[in-house]
Amino acid sequence: MARTIAQQTEEQLGGADSVLARQRRDHREMTRLMDLYRRTAPGEDAERALKDVVQLVFSHAFAEESVLWPAVRRSVPDGEELTSRVEEEHQQINDLVADIERLAPGSPEREDRIARAFALIEEDIRDEEDLLLPRLQEAVDTAAQRRLGAAWEAVRRTAPTHPHPVIPRRPPGNAVAGVPLSVYDRTRDALGISPSAPPWKALAVPGALLAAVVLAAAWRRRR
Ligand SMILES: [Fe+2]
Ligand SMILES: [Fe+2]
Repeated sequence: MARTIAQQTEEQLGGADSVLARQRRDHREMTRLMDLYRRTAPGEDAERALKDVVQLVFSHAFAEESVLWPAVRRSVPDGEELTSRVEEEHQQINDLVADIERLAPGSPEREDRIARAFALIEEDIRDEEDLLLPRLQEAVDTAAQRRLGAAWEAVRRTAPTHPHPVIPRRPPGNAVAGVPLSVYDRTRDALGISPSAPPWKALAVPGALLAAVVLAAAWRRRR
């Protein structure tokens, strides 16, 4: 009988590099950040904790949808049903966070969406650790769990970090839409541009850099 990965040792999960151990580490960090937000008085520190939750949750979930759930569908008999359930949770979290990024900080409406998004993230963590990942653990050996861990991590590090209505939940559509949006998100994060700011703000910097490169090339050709 498959058992939750919540209580197992790291060795039982296939070592620090296995996808199971990596998942649990991220889930613990999400829980820590959500608790931090709940404990922190409204203001800059609370907003920073919320931003960290969003960036971690979205890159984590994108890598799950790109690498992990296809592997679950291939190797677990009821993988289709299990992954549809977590994809539905991901979609609801996506919609709630899109609202959160649009609403004014401190408004009751936004606090309500944050509470609902956090509750769904906690539900998603339980479904993955108690139902889905134990089935994957039974179905594939430790070497495969580590290979999946490396692939999942590679995608996670370059994934979009904010909600986007245009990204489908399944490959190959999510990869096609996700790559350019990831560049866009990470530019905004690096420059500290708010997700509610108009898109031209984030595009202005790479646009200006591109214009500078084109001008420099044209100038060199004329000499
Ligand atoms: Fe997860
Ligand atoms: Fe998830």
